[in-house]
Amino acid sequence: MNRLDNKIAIITGAAQGMGASHARMFAAEGAKVVLTDVQQEAGQSLADEIGEQAVFVKQDVSSSSDWDAVCAVTKDRFGIPNVLVNNAGLYFIGQVDEADPEQVKKLLEVNVFGAWLGISKLAPLMRQAGGGSIINLSSLAGMRGIPWHAIYGASKWAVRGLTKTAAYDLGGEGIRVNAILPGAITNTGMSGTLDEDQLAAIPMHRSGQPEEVSQLAVFLASDESAYITGADHVIDGGRSLW
Ligand SMILES: NC(=O)c1ccc[n+]([C@@H]2O[C@H](COP(=O)([O-])OP(=O)(O)OC[C@H]3O[C@@H](n4cnc5c(N)ncnc54)[C@H](O)[C@@H]3O)[C@@H](O)[C@H]2O)c1
Repeated sequence: MNRLDNKIAIITGAAQGMGASHARMFAAEGAKVVLTDVQQEAGQSLADEIGEQAVFVKQDVSSSSDWDAVCAVTKDRFGIPNVLVNNAGLYFIGQVDEADPEQVKKLLEVNVFGAWLGISKLAPLMRQAGGGSIINLSSLAGMRGIPWHAIYGASKWAVRGLTKTAAYDLGGEGIRVNAILPGAITNTGMSGTLDEDQLAAIPMHRSGQPEEVSQLAVFLASDESAYITGADHVIDGGRSLW
């Protein structure tokens, strides 16, 4: 018995980084996985690598019609989805008053509007399926004021708010909604190199691996977390302790 047998999971931003790691681990735990991303080639090649349990659908998470297409393919190929991982995201850092307005709009459209769209499309299907688990990727920048992270941070604070409110709205129908707040995670498109001072500020003196976040995502997707909803799950080597 695998931990995610009978789970049909949609994972956004799955062509690389943490999303790719989630996809591999979910499939290894028995889930059927629908990988989505704007990056067609990398996404398709990962789905091919995983095999029959996986399908890739090209998707921009900020497009309503793309979500409809993802849901249609999922139902057609595997059945009604009961897990959603809102993982796709954009990142930039910069002084709060120096951001380009178009870049700001785009980031909020993907990180916030895209996550909401996913919830709004999946909730009715999960209701039909008798419940489900939605996992939203927030960040340490969604619980602190981190220099140069005003816009990205605003988007990740919003994702936490969305998570908690959706958990209220959907809890009675057996749909759980949780947030994951990673600290510095290495080997992804968003990872930067940490200098000595930054490493020293992490109690565990190292950054995290995508697979360590995927372990948490598997737990939240599985029935092991059946009574956990609306919660912030910080995974940061202790960075937020002080
Ligand atoms: N790496 C970190 O240190 C870190 C820390 C905290 C939170 N996060 C969050 O974790 C999630 C995964 O990040 P990652 O580090 O793996 O970054 P990443 O850049 O490697 O992956 C993000 C993925 O999202 C995809 N994407 C971007 N715009 C999209 C769109 N409009 N529609 C669909 N897909 C789109 C990208 O193509 C990419 O594959 C993000 O939400 C990020 O904000 C990352």
